[in-house]
Amino acid sequence: MKKVVVASVTALSLFMLASCGGGGSKEAPASTENTTAAAAPADGEAIYKRTCIACHQPNGMGIANTFPPLAKSDFIADREKTIGQVIKGKTGELVVNGAKYNNTMPPQPLNDAEIAAVLTYVYSNFGNSGAPVTVDEVKAVRAKNP
Ligand code: HEC
Repeated sequence: MKKVVVASVTALSLFMLASCGGGGSKEAPASTENTTAAAAPADGEAIYKRTCIACHQPNGMGIANTFPPLAKSDFIADREKTIGQVIKGKTGELVVNGAKYNNTMPPQPLNDAEIAAVLTYVYSNFGNSGAPVTVDEVKAVRAKNP
């Protein structure tokens, strides 16, 4: 009797394993697609080259008196201000490394993941060293600046 119970429990768990496996493999292609789709726009370097480079230049040095540098910028020490800068842009006076700028940066049409990715790229290039910017950080700043 005991043997029968063990056998049927074993059979049942085999059956459950098989059905889980079946379901999982059916979903596998969909989740692979999602991963690819999410990874593509989160390429900070590509976003920088597409979006920021015209003004801030390939080396992040900007253009004197016109576009401030991102390279070794003291401005970006304030992460909240930096995230806000990309979300909202800015017109008016702004000081970077002691140099005054009075120009306009248009708001950048990027989603939160793209802003996180491009700023992570900025924080880890151009002589800068800052922790990666998370999507949650961007979300929090956006919530404060609707
Ligand atoms: C059309 C030109 C333009 C584009 C495109 C642009 N910026 Fe700017 N950016 C500016 C200008 C101009 C300022 C200074 C604004 C002012 O004088 O008030 C600035 C300021 C900044 C600052 C703060 C000052 C500093 O240099 O640290 C950051 C950070 C910044 N931009 C990041 C970015 C990022 C990241 C992108 C791409 C997602 C981007 N910008 C795209 C023109 C641009």
